[in-house]
Amino acid sequence: MIRKCLFPVAGYGTRFLPATKSMPKEMLPIVNKPLVQYGVEEAIEAGLKQIALVTGRGKRAIADHFDISYELEHQIAGSGKEKYLSSIRKVLNEGTFMMTRQREMKGLGHAILTGESLIGNEAFGVVLSDDLCLNPNDDGVLKQMVKLYNQFRCSIVAIQEVPMEEIHKYGVIAGDDMGNGLFRVSDMVEKPDADKAPSNLAVIGRYVLTPDIFDIIRETPPGKNNEIQLTDALLTQAKAGCVLAYKFRGKRFDCGSVPGFIEATNYVYENVYDEDVH
Ligand code: G1P
Repeated sequence: MIRKCLFPVAGYGTRFLPATKSMPKEMLPIVNKPLVQYGVEEAIEAGLKQIALVTGRGKRAIADHFDISYELEHQIAGSGKEKYLSSIRKVLNEGTFMMTRQREMKGLGHAILTGESLIGNEAFGVVLSDDLCLNPNDDGVLKQMVKLYNQFRCSIVAIQEVPMEEIHKYGVIAGDDMGNGLFRVSDMVEKPDADKAPSNLAVIGRYVLTPDIFDIIRETPPGKNNEIQLTDALLTQAKAGCVLAYKFRGKRFDCGSVPGFIEATNYVYENVYDEDVH
């Protein structure tokens, strides 16, 4: 059983300055809900109720978001406005939250390794909350991946086909097609130039990782941009055993970019947001 989900939330959000000067980028709302809450709801839906946040300086608003606001509860209790608190109350009732701080920004691999003390020796999910994944009326992306983990018992990365002009923004896999959207990973490259990319299958920010990844990351030298890359550690894991890549069902928005953020906002407003259900 996977119980824990790691959220690396220490990044700067430079592309959204000045909005992110004193506010964490993960707290930017898509309509009325912060990005990170969408991710946490997806994890809880998948049964991953222990949420491990790898935070950094200036990220206190995230810790406060996942705690009770007594003043607000007191003001709103018994009024017609209570409905506005229902989604966050549900998250707080169902999830537990733990936090550690990443002191230096040394890449996604380093952020994951920082979370080791919260995860321990068990398989876990990872959500990069910049990637908003929605699959209304069907299993969320992480739930789809947890089902696959229960069957295959190895690390799994979410993938999506992207246009070759955009491939340099992603980790990219090559693999043997096993059918049903699953590939056995044979190669993985972090942010390659289009002419060096092994395919158009880009890694999206959802992972299920087996805990041997921590030892592998410890041994992984800095790679692309001189950062410790999860992609490089996953390639080592794939070569030593097995890593699967999964073309998920659902929509994904790159909310780390302004156009993706606007697209997500419009989509949620049109298709998901309900004025009476918060
Ligand atoms: C990270 C990963 C990359 C992955 C991407 C998905 O990159 O390093 O492999 O494709 O997330 O969003 P980042 O976008 O954080 O630079």
